[in-house]
Amino acid sequence: MTAKNAESALLLVHARQLVTANGTKPLRRAALGDLGSIEDAAVLCVAGKIVSVGTTDAALRDPWVKRHKKGLRELDCSGKVILPGFVDSHTHPAFLSPRLVDFEKRLAGATYEEIAQAGGGIGSTVAEVREASRAELSRQVLRGFQQMVAGGTTTMEAKSGYGLSVAAEIKSLEAIRDAARQTPATVAPTLLGAHLVPAEFEDDRAEYVRQVCEEMIPRADEGGLAWFVDVFCERGAFDLEEAESILTAAWQRNLGARLHLGQFSATSLHSLLKFNPASLDHMDYVEDEDIPMLAQTKTVATLLPGSNYFLGLEKYPPARKLIAAGVAVALATDYNPGTSPTPSMPMVLSLACTHLGMLPAEAIAAATLNGACALRLADSKGSIEPGKDADLAIFNVEDYREIPYWFGLNHCDSVVIGGNVVESNK
Ligand code: NIG
Ligand code: FE
Repeated sequence: MTAKNAESALLLVHARQLVTANGTKPLRRAALGDLGSIEDAAVLCVAGKIVSVGTTDAALRDPWVKRHKKGLRELDCSGKVILPGFVDSHTHPAFLSPRLVDFEKRLAGATYEEIAQAGGGIGSTVAEVREASRAELSRQVLRGFQQMVAGGTTTMEAKSGYGLSVAAEIKSLEAIRDAARQTPATVAPTLLGAHLVPAEFEDDRAEYVRQVCEEMIPRADEGGLAWFVDVFCERGAFDLEEAESILTAAWQRNLGARLHLGQFSATSLHSLLKFNPASLDHMDYVEDEDIPMLAQTKTVATLLPGSNYFLGLEKYPPARKLIAAGVAVALATDYNPGTSPTPSMPMVLSLACTHLGMLPAEAIAAATLNGACALRLADSKGSIEPGKDADLAIFNVEDYREIPYWFGLNHCDSVVIGGNVVESNK
């Protein structure tokens, strides 16, 4: 490290607790709850990377730190907890406005599927997105990103999926790209052209699937606009055969696969796992016999309890069963206007503890390292260890278990991304 590096160096000191799940592979079974913890902790970040992690005492004795003390920016974290920045591996930020009428209809007893059939739901957001300019859409996407960062998220996935035409899906991905350029966070873009068959193709589903495969996927790929292709494989959305055609088109372009699966009914995993999906999301319904097969793969099961909570469902995904079987489990917000209007990972952690039976340590690992695995970014994200990106979230609590415990409050005090303090709620 040179003296010049000191100008871009940040030293966090005196954190009451630093808690992290380390490694580059998803944690499973008992290892999911086995976090490393350091008291009176320090982290040295240089040129955007984590250089050392340990006690404050050791950091202050480090010869390089001693020599460059004057140039270093120091952040006192006394009485606070440092976590790896959250990796929110499932979000739908490309929408314009909240669906308040649907919300009230549901409170009066209509189900999510009934509202969609009556012309509300995803379809109404689609109408707005098609009308909107790219700049307008991008502003809303950026607002979502900023709210995520304020809660401690430093990497987020972002799906299109409310355009449902070649032009509007590409516009949505461009809006995501434009917003991504304005946030210091890392954004993983996903094409979700296969969110729903739009009304005008109801009598010709095959033509819509063809457009996803032969027009949307190539354009998204050629424009460098998507890392992943997602399919909502569910009754009322896309069936297994359609999902397979779409994932085949993604495979041919070398784009990663991910699926919305098992939100309302179980779908057999066998034929989908051959696409090596980065993650299968929701998984409220999964066949028992598929679980051991899933546990043998690197595919992450991303649980989205915000949507169960917001839809008032009694059933939540079977987290304990999946963890016990050795499935790699992640947690994400599913930030969207229909089923999970929250950008808050701390809220998701709380729901994971109270409704999925996960321990706070398990929830943190699922929301950081395992989330990074769900985005195939675990070489650089998801943990606090030398060599990884200096993406950290600092909470104004004395014990990490308070983060899911005090629900509905944002205890995130500061956020560090790429070694820079980008958010300070003090
Ligand atoms: O993940 N399930 C499909 N997609 C979203 C909901 C989108 C919406 O209702 O706007 C989800 O829950
Ligand atoms: Fe979703």
